Amino acid sequence: MLEVLNHPLITHKLTQMRKSSTGTKDFRENLDEIAELMAYEVCRDLPVKTVDIETPVAPCTGFELSKEVVIVPILRAGIGLLDGIRRLVPTAKVGFIGMYRDEKTLEPHEYFAKFPSGMEDAIVMIVDPMLATGGSAIDAISAVKKRGAQQIKLVCLVGAPEGVKAVQAKYPDVDLYLAALDDHLNENGYIVPGLGDAGDRIFGTK
Ligand code: PRP
Ligand code: URA
Repeated sequence: MLEVLNHPLITHKLTQMRKSSTGTKDFRENLDEIAELMAYEVCRDLPVKTVDIETPVAPCTGFELSKEVVIVPILRAGIGLLDGIRRLVPTAKVGFIGMYRDEKTLEPHEYFAKFPSGMEDAIVMIVDPMLATGGSAIDAISAVKKRGAQQIKLVCLVGAPEGVKAVQAKYPDVDLYLAALDDHLNENGYIVPGLGDAGDRIFGTK
């Protein structure tokens, strides 16, 4: 399943992020706000259970989330989506996977992994602003599956058709959410038009 979240607020904020004139502070703030808006949509199908409660007026039956949510940002850039999602799902646990892409081969390399317990029964949201070749996302999905994750959502800001195809071919069971599906990858593996290097723009490293 691929869902492109075409919401005017998301596309407006993403357009600010795409502009090369946008500095680190505004880039990060827009990403944070988009993360919250995306989380609202991505959480639309979270399972709930009925609970019997007492309001100040009367007993009634309410609904609460029935599964834990685990958010897994792919370091570094995925960190930029974490706080926005956690504001909507404050009880979520957080796992981390560190991955960098070799600039020449575009192959991902894992350098860090730390996950909470209970991945088997949780809804696991892997988050990263960029889905380019799909290599990093595929390795992150493999890593959480190895820890028992079964219900996995991949939440990215901008995707290239190449990355979407690769993820869907390898893991058709993973639900994929994007704020925008861009045109193609260039010869350096950058998404076109994209927004440049997300990690560098979030952390001011270039
Ligand atoms: C970027 C991005 C993704 C990956 C996408 O990370 O945040 O993780 O590239 O590319 P792919 O789909 O071709 O694998 P990068 O490797 O630049 O690391 P960083 O987040 O530390 O900057
Ligand atoms: N990683 C990025 O940060 N940007 C791209 O366009 C592709 C991979």
